[in-house]
Amino acid sequence: MSIPEKIQREVASLRKVINHHNRLYHALDNPEIPDSDYDSLVERLENLEREYGLLSDSSPSLSVGSAPLNKFAEVQHQIPMLSLDKVFEEEGLRNFSKRINKLLDTDKQVSYSCEPKIDGIAVSLFYKDGELKQASTRGDGKTGEDITHNVLGITCIPKSIKMKKTKTQLEVRGEIFLSKLDFNEINDKARKEGQKLFVNPRNTAAGTIRQLDPERAAKVPLRMFCYGVGVNQGISLPENLGEIFDELKKLGFPVNKDIKTASGIEGCVNYCLDLYSRRDLLDYEIDGAVIKVDSLVSQGIIGENIKAPRWAIAYKFPAEEKITKVLDVEFQVGRTGTITPVARLEPVFVGGVTVSNTTLHNMDEIQRLGLSIGDEVIVRRAGDVIPKVVRVVESKKKRKTTSIEIPSHCSVCKSPIEKDGAVLLRCTGGSLCSAQRKEMLKHFASRSALNIEGLGTKLIEQFVDEGLIKDAADIFKLNSSVLIQIDRLGKKSAENLLASIEKSKNTTLPKFIYALGIREVGEATAQALAYRYPEIDDLLRATVEDLESIQDIGPTVSSKIVAFFSEISNLDLIKRLIEVGVEWPVKSITSSSILSGKTIVLTGTLESFSRQEAKDRLLAIGAKVSGSVSKNTDFVVAGLGAGSKLTKASELGVKTFDEQEFLTLLSQ
Ligand code: IVH
Repeated sequence: MSIPEKIQREVASLRKVINHHNRLYHALDNPEIPDSDYDSLVERLENLEREYGLLSDSSPSLSVGSAPLNKFAEVQHQIPMLSLDKVFEEEGLRNFSKRINKLLDTDKQVSYSCEPKIDGIAVSLFYKDGELKQASTRGDGKTGEDITHNVLGITCIPKSIKMKKTKTQLEVRGEIFLSKLDFNEINDKARKEGQKLFVNPRNTAAGTIRQLDPERAAKVPLRMFCYGVGVNQGISLPENLGEIFDELKKLGFPVNKDIKTASGIEGCVNYCLDLYSRRDLLDYEIDGAVIKVDSLVSQGIIGENIKAPRWAIAYKFPAEEKITKVLDVEFQVGRTGTITPVARLEPVFVGGVTVSNTTLHNMDEIQRLGLSIGDEVIVRRAGDVIPKVVRVVESKKKRKTTSIEIPSHCSVCKSPIEKDGAVLLRCTGGSLCSAQRKEMLKHFASRSALNIEGLGTKLIEQFVDEGLIKDAADIFKLNSSVLIQIDRLGKKSAENLLASIEKSKNTTLPKFIYALGIREVGEATAQALAYRYPEIDDLLRATVEDLESIQDIGPTVSSKIVAFFSEISNLDLIKRLIEVGVEWPVKSITSSSILSGKTIVLTGTLESFSRQEAKDRLLAIGAKVSGSVSKNTDFVVAGLGAGSKLTKASELGVKTFDEQEFLTLLSQ
């Protein structure tokens, strides 16, 4: 077959690029692109080589890691340190198990060792007659680097083990890593001292372990988890991984407690999904799970290929970091006029979702990133946290990019923009700015405020653009003859909307205060205000000193509240809202429950009411509702299927109630 020149050129270029990134990642500990982008390059190369028969021994698609730098002594691995084949979908795991059953010629369920795939650096520890003689990196799989001088400083690695003292050899393999907590502490310290920050725990660990100076390396609290055994002579080890891990633990090696044995592939699939859901709670970074045939005898039968064993597979989680391009930066106007730069991105699938825009917070952040429009950036989305631009990929920086300037005027109402404090920008248009009005109305109608079902973002924008609504009181003047003119709003939807507007008039005082959108007044503060001032007129007259005497309300919040109620237009709005029929039961707040004043976290599914209803009930009795468990949490209410928050509560010794107990406490 004649191979098109274009393909030959692409293969040559891919090999060059992959070798370059291999060296950056493995030898210099300074990767430039996220792992997932690297994986895509290798996958493309593998596909082309397979399709056009271009495989060659020297191709990086067949190599593991990178040749060592010559600053360390070389170590030849007696048994190669291989890589792992990977899959990204559950289906890949099932296909893996089908291959295993076929190779073992069995229909029975095979036992697997299910392990977190630690994002660190592979290490080989070689013990002779019970003493640690040598520690080395994986290198290119055949030849690694001698890092004994640094490994001796890692406290959790035993320097001698209880093993026969003559003619015995044991090679333990595992992953060296830095915990998330220690990484954050190191970076906090570097930030305070004005030093360069580390990119992530893996790079920090890799850079440390390949230091020439062991004293400097010992300052970083590296840890290690074992994941297997290499050379072993003169000792008898069990015949499956599960028991080998127990044995290693007895010998004093650190073994990850999140390793489990599963029978059959469905157990492994569940393990992977569960591990993925707990990923953020783990104190170490992982990029997937590793599923290995548990029996060493079976492993021997199944064998390996040049790059990876056939008896193991890595199930990779969706990448948390990807490269994409910044197409534009827009300045969004918030409810209170704050101007936030938002990056419009070339859509990218990261952390399990497609991201096409992300906040850049403020101009300082743009400066810190050195960001211009047109730059390629690394976007990170971990767990449910909002995506963020981590850094600009300097090597991909184009000459033609557009710098991002501070806008002088609001793009919507053209009012001047002023600086508010050190970093904030604010549109001075106030209620004249239609963007601020829209945000204000969205807030007013939102679930935690007046909860006007059916009055969503699109409709509010349309109502404001068509001049049908100027402020919150106008919502209650809408009627069917007005709604009929609105495109996309059928008769039934219009009726439903009018019904939910009517329903929303019956509210509670905390919700009403929150709905007003006073700067710095969130749900908890609104609750505290309503608790202190059951009559709204008393709140309108409160002074800064009065407000400051309320727990958790400081001078900044107090002055914002007083400023809000001293504006005639705000007092007028409140008057008009009451005139159109918005009302709340007076003195709806009681403080008899033991839950009053306590910080409570709701988790899992409650059967008696929705999460919002439970939250409202708690707020109404003066409790605070928080989204995450910490040492400041008083109680956790755990419904069905409660997971990580419940675990955290028991770790921290926080008292938990089930739904029945919660109902009893609410009714007291
Ligand atoms: S088993 C022959 N188990 O992942 C089997 N590797 O992408 C090779 N890794 O080089 C390794 N956690 O550095 C194994 N539980 C685990 C692991 C693990 C992390 C790393 C290891 C390996 C790389 C392969």
